[in-house]
Amino acid sequence: MKLSELQVLHFEAAAFALAPAQLAAAGGLQQAWVISTCQRVVVVTAGRAARAQLIERLPAAAGAQGFSGAEAYAFLLRFACGLESRLAGETEIFGQIKESWRAFSATPSLLSRQLVSWVQVLFKDTKEVRATQLSSLGSASYGSQVRRLLGATTQGPTLLIGAGQLAQTVAPWLETRELLIWNRTRDRALELARLVQERRAERACRVLDSSEQAELAAWAQAGDVVLCVPADSQRDAARIAAWRSRSKPGGRIVHLGLGQAGDASWAGVPGLTGLSDLFEMLRAQSDQRGVQLARARRSCAEKAVLRSLGPSATQAHGWEDLAAFATIGP
Ligand SMILES: NC(=O)c1ccc[n+]([C@@H]2O[C@H](COP(=O)([O-])OP(=O)(O)OC[C@H]3O[C@@H](n4cnc5c(N)ncnc54)[C@H](OP(=O)(O)O)[C@@H]3O)[C@@H](O)[C@H]2O)c1
Repeated sequence: MKLSELQVLHFEAAAFALAPAQLAAAGGLQQAWVISTCQRVVVVTAGRAARAQLIERLPAAAGAQGFSGAEAYAFLLRFACGLESRLAGETEIFGQIKESWRAFSATPSLLSRQLVSWVQVLFKDTKEVRATQLSSLGSASYGSQVRRLLGATTQGPTLLIGAGQLAQTVAPWLETRELLIWNRTRDRALELARLVQERRAERACRVLDSSEQAELAAWAQAGDVVLCVPADSQRDAARIAAWRSRSKPGGRIVHLGLGQAGDASWAGVPGLTGLSDLFEMLRAQSDQRGVQLARARRSCAEKAVLRSLGPSATQAHGWEDLAAFATIGP
């Protein structure tokens, strides 16, 4: 397949709430590769006809951001390098994309055969941009940011709520004498505890019973709490009440499921940092970070120009070629 046939549609979660049935319709029996993350859904197809069919299957696609050819490649590269993420430069997204490709390509299809060589090149370029432009960026992961925020906890155990993808990336970073893990599905919490102990054998790690009472009792004894579950207006009221009723004040709550708009019930809760506060802290960090991210974005565009000449082209290109990209950004 030529790069000019590559088609990408981008649905930002803030603008589109795609239901599971819509995502399945977008995939349309292996006719599109659908990458779904908590911030966006990216749909990859080959050829304009496939894109038109996708819009027929999923009318919302008509309003999505669309990219073709080298621009589509540049977008995928920025996406895989974490440059589209709100935590710019974060590393977890690459793992999510690789996992999504593994699942999609496990069922061979015409599209998976068409895309495979471009996906291989994409993964290679992602590693290269990360290594050359982003390696000295400082650790850009949700875990590292949470650790920076909490520091070493001395007041009591740290309670981690959730055992999904985000909790798995955050848990190994938590510096605490004892980690308490609570999750709705206890088996997933047990699996997470096993992973933490594999990486941090010295970390005392206790999996709580999955009842609401066990969770609330842990809120009352925890020094800090990290939530890696979506906000839940009913459960959150009880959590806030348990936090407020503690005998020892102090400590922090980091709620990574608390979206951009926040949630009114959490307003004024002492020690709270939501996801948007965390992004704000990062923005305020250093100008140097901004310079590096801009360089990495340019590098993605340069690579896309190069790839449009063929998957193995290596000749460097001038900036005049990059003018073709409406989406490079500053
Ligand atoms: N992944 C990221 O990079 C990222 C980044 C920033 C923010 N977030 C936010 O963090 C939260 C978790 O994301 P994730 O990627 O870890 O998702 P995930 O892998 O799907 O895991 C979801 C977690 O939330 C729990 N959960 C979901 N609905 C629940 C409910 N109604 N009551 C109690 N527990 C519930 C799940 O428990 P079970 O195991 O019982 O299903 C699991 O622990 C989301 O709000 C997401 O928007 C994620």
